[in-house]
Amino acid sequence: MKNNLICVLIGAPGAGKGTQAKNVANYYNCKLISTGDILRENVENRTVLGLEAKKYIDNGNLAPAQIVVSMIKNVIKSSVENKAGADKSFLFDGFPRDLEQNKLFEQILDELNLSIKGVIYINIEDDIVYERLTNRRICPKCNRVYHLKFNPPKFDNLCDDCKVKLITREDDKIDVIKNRLEVYKQLTYPLIEYYRKKNKVVEINGNKNADDVLKDIISGINCAR
Ligand code: AP5
Repeated sequence: MKNNLICVLIGAPGAGKGTQAKNVANYYNCKLISTGDILRENVENRTVLGLEAKKYIDNGNLAPAQIVVSMIKNVIKSSVENKAGADKSFLFDGFPRDLEQNKLFEQILDELNLSIKGVIYINIEDDIVYERLTNRRICPKCNRVYHLKFNPPKFDNLCDDCKVKLITREDDKIDVIKNRLEVYKQLTYPLIEYYRKKNKVVEINGNKNADDVLKDIISGINCAR
C-alpha cells in the first residue's frame, strides 16, 4: 500500500523545523525522525557514530551520507517492523538534505513500498536565520527549545520543566551559522528544485509566528497530492 503519510520538512537552519515537527507529528500521529536530534544524541552518548559526526556538526557541515542514511534505514525498518497493518506514517525533519541522500532515501522507500506525500519547505529570510539561532537556547536535559524573545523561559535562563540552566548549541556560533547557511544553499536548494519539478513541494512562509506557520503546514499537507 502506498497511502501512508510520508512527509519531509526542509528549511534553512533555524527555519523552525524542529519547533513545527513535534506539533505536526502529534497532529497526524506519525513517527518523527529528526537526523539532527539522533546525531546529537549519539554525540552526547559518545558513540562511534557520534564521535565521527561531531567533526562535521561542529563546523556546520553535513555528516557523511552513508552514516546518516544507514542510521535512518535502521530507524525506519525497525519502526515499520513494529507496525502491523497499513499505518506506516513518518515525518522526517532535516532528512534528506541533498540529492545524494535523497537517492538512497527513495530506494529505502521503494523497498518498503512507501512514497512521499509532501515536502514541506519552510522558507525564511537570511537575517531571520541569524536572529533565530543567536537567540535560541536549549535545555541540556530534556532538549526543550526556547527563544529569548519569542519563546522565553519563565525564569531567567532556566528550563521551565527541568529547572536546569539553558545552554547555547555549539553550532549556533555566528561563523558556524554562516557555514550551515552556505551548505544549505549549495546542497539543499537543488533538492527542493528536484521535488518542485515533481509537484511535491508545499512552500510555507516561515517568517510568521509559530502558530500561524503550523496552521499553514497542516493545510498544506492536507492539500498535497
Ligand atoms: P539540525 O539539528 O537538523 O539543524 P538545522 O537544519 O541547521 O536546523 P536547526 O535545528 O538549527 O533549526 P530548526 O529549523 O529546527 O529551528 P528551530 O525549530 O530550533 O542539524 C544539525 C547538524 O547535524 C547539521 O548542521 C549537520 O551537521 C548534522 N545533520 C543533521 N541532519 C543531517 C543530515 N540529514 N545529513 C547530514 N548531516 C546532518 O527554531 C530555531 C529558533 O527559532 C528557536 O529558538 C525557536 O524557538 C525559534 N522559532 C521557531 N519558529 C519560530 C517562529 N515562527 N517565530 C519565532 N521564533 C521561532
